[in-house]
Amino acid sequence: MVERFQNFIDGKWVDAANGGIFDDINPANKTEVLGAFPRSDHRDVDRAVEAAKAHFPPWRQVPAPRRAEILFRAAEILLRRKEELAELMTREMGKVLKESRGEVQEAIDMMYFIAGEGRRLWGETTPSELPNKFAMTIRVPVGVVGMITPWNFPLAIPSWKLAPALVAGNTVVFKPAEDTPLMAVRLLEVLLEAGLPPGVVNLVHGHGEEAGAPLVRHPDVSLVSFTGSCEVGREVAIACAAEHKRFCLEMGGKNPILVMEDADLDLAVDGAIWGGFGTSGQRCTAASRLLVHKKVVKEFTDRFVTRAQALRLGDGRLPTTDVGPVVNEAQLKRVHNYTKVGLKEGAKLLCGGEISKEGDCRKGFFYAPTVFGDVVPKMRIAQEEIFGPTVTVLPVAGLDEAIEVANAVRYGLSSAIYTRDINKAFRAIEALGSGITYVNASTIGAEVHLPFGGTRQTGSGHREGGRQVLDVFTEWKTVYIDYSGKLQRAQIDMS
Ligand code: UN1
Repeated sequence: MVERFQNFIDGKWVDAANGGIFDDINPANKTEVLGAFPRSDHRDVDRAVEAAKAHFPPWRQVPAPRRAEILFRAAEILLRRKEELAELMTREMGKVLKESRGEVQEAIDMMYFIAGEGRRLWGETTPSELPNKFAMTIRVPVGVVGMITPWNFPLAIPSWKLAPALVAGNTVVFKPAEDTPLMAVRLLEVLLEAGLPPGVVNLVHGHGEEAGAPLVRHPDVSLVSFTGSCEVGREVAIACAAEHKRFCLEMGGKNPILVMEDADLDLAVDGAIWGGFGTSGQRCTAASRLLVHKKVVKEFTDRFVTRAQALRLGDGRLPTTDVGPVVNEAQLKRVHNYTKVGLKEGAKLLCGGEISKEGDCRKGFFYAPTVFGDVVPKMRIAQEEIFGPTVTVLPVAGLDEAIEVANAVRYGLSSAIYTRDINKAFRAIEALGSGITYVNASTIGAEVHLPFGGTRQTGSGHREGGRQVLDVFTEWKTVYIDYSGKLQRAQIDMS
């Protein structure tokens, strides 16, 4: 018997209005169904938005330090349930257990960090140009927030959005990815156990076109916070522009690691393996381009390919597994299609390049870690986000060329440089056009208390994480208090 899950609307667990369901499948073993979830449509979204709207006035009245205590308690509960949630995450989306534990930790960190903001949420005071007049800024909530989150970080990314939205006093309609609905249910349960009043967060499961699109378009949603593909992000932006509503988009990456001739090659290979194949390459921060100085490209590539070939594919719950499956069949086909594209473009396949059918791999969606050499910047495999275990190696003549190539893609999320030369490191920090740059560390592994986001088509210019995330989930209100008891005219009554 497959367990049936429901939406959570106005404090009640309910089925989709149309009665439809979809299955949640373990990507390491297609026959394992984790549950059946409501396949919601606009009717469910309408009810959820109505509930979120009704609960906004009382929720914004709760003092921010009290709202923050709920997040603090949620962090404590997540900590207590870390192992169980990590195991479930691996079953639901495939990442290896140690990475799942890391992701639960990321959600815990975010809850604690943002809980502290409940006693800050600072504005400013500043002198007025007129006497007997006071000027200040305060943060106010935006209203009903629509959240659409991806499957690759099914707990951490929702927590990046939910924690700041809630501490700031917004109410939420949350539409998680259809590949990872169960982690969303667990996260909501944790928040409810921590004391979140019913109706403040409303959960609506379903597909993008059927449930996500009506949420984005709903006139009572004041802000849409979306993490996902560039293509869908564009649709979100267009729909929000049409309604003059706020949006925050986090989208793709084609993140480079620059390996200079003076780099510690052991360290660089470690970083490239971790960045390229961690989470089966399914991170928007994944290191999918290695820009390696010609003088060391042969040695680096030999070592890198040897290490890539030695990675053990399998169920992420087994301690022997280095790389888990990709999330679903469509993704598997997409990754394999890029292998064909790379071969057609004349890149040299150095390892992998195939759907793995070895042993238990045939039960799931496994793709062999793949490395392409002799890649040139204009090739599609060096330009487009593959979101799988495929890494390209591009030889470069030096730092200037490396920077030029690094920046010549439509994305700008993360980048890294391996060098022992402090001058090169600082030049790269300045010139790499990404929102995040690492020196002597890989492109993945951002920490929650620093801003996260990118340039160009990676995002809408906002940042998640850090204190900066509050600028997404609050409006600034400027307040003037005139205690002179007479009409004072700014810019005119100068005294
Ligand atoms: C993502 O891939 O969408 O920096 C987020 C990292 C993680 C978050 C990745 N902390 O790789």
